[in-house]
Amino acid sequence: MTERVTLITGASAGIGTELARVFASNGHRVALVARRVDRLTALADELTATGGAAPIVIPCDLQQTDAGDRIAEALTAAGVEVEYLVNNAGFGLFGLAIERDRAEQLNIINVNIRAMTDLTLRFADQLIRNRGGILNLGSIAGFLPGPGMAVYYASKAYVLSFSEALRCELAPKGVRVTVVCPGPVPSEFQDRAGFAPGFDSAILNVAPDEVARQAYRGLMANKRAVLPGAFIKLVPFLLRLFPRSFILTAVGGFQLRKR
Ligand SMILES: NC(=O)c1ccc[n+]([C@@H]2O[C@H](COP(=O)([O-])OP(=O)(O)OC[C@H]3O[C@@H](n4cnc5c(N)ncnc54)[C@H](OP(=O)(O)O)[C@@H]3O)[C@@H](O)[C@H]2O)c1
Repeated sequence: MTERVTLITGASAGIGTELARVFASNGHRVALVARRVDRLTALADELTATGGAAPIVIPCDLQQTDAGDRIAEALTAAGVEVEYLVNNAGFGLFGLAIERDRAEQLNIINVNIRAMTDLTLRFADQLIRNRGGILNLGSIAGFLPGPGMAVYYASKAYVLSFSEALRCELAPKGVRVTVVCPGPVPSEFQDRAGFAPGFDSAILNVAPDEVARQAYRGLMANKRAVLPGAFIKLVPFLLRLFPRSFILTAVGGFQLRKR
């Protein structure tokens, strides 16, 4: 029987590193994808030292359209199949969409949407064969429009919608799909996005390792969605109480105040 792995994108930092630790500590062999190979190698060494199966390290830039081909080739060369797919890699950019670099913003779509969709559809046969699962990193941002991070919020709305629809399509085939929708998580995300100082709300923060633990538990329990943190769980309900126009003004006022 072909050996099965958990493929994790964005494993070089933040939530992805913690997800790799959680999957490995639960006995899964992991395949780690990101651009920074030194980080992936160090993580692979750490996981091997704790007694797990040696991770497969796949340096890859998910902005490139051939990223899926390269990942598939690496897995074939290693003689493994995907049992669990964790689409975690992602980033956002803070500021007015019309002022931020257009190519950089299109790369949000390449990583958060295109690569996530490509890997999901590409490995669907293997996930079905192995009766495995998909864990997609959405965001609470996926529930509302986001002036000040317009492309990012829209990309996460796609992740949420795609994940829920796919869950319905794949359930009869024995594949579970869970979308994780965190609020603020302290990681490299904020610097990469170019957040203004003081923009973050530490009260709402949930640590990356806690997000990863809840995400893993949610996937294994076949939950539709995981919203880490007490307040974040309330957000979808609170949003239903207000007209969309009010939410749009409120989010815009909050996010654009620090510019
Ligand atoms: N932090 C938050 O507040 C928060 C909240 C809600 C949702 N999320 C979501 O959670 C996920 C993980 O975020 P995080 O907070 O852990 O962010 P992070 O610390 O910045 O880590 C992002 C990861 O994505 C990888 N990545 C980014 N661009 C890539 C590319 N072009 N090719 C390959 N890998 C790429 C990075 O690896 P390399 O740079 O080495 O390539 C890194 O491993 C993202 O989808 C994010 O949208 C985060």
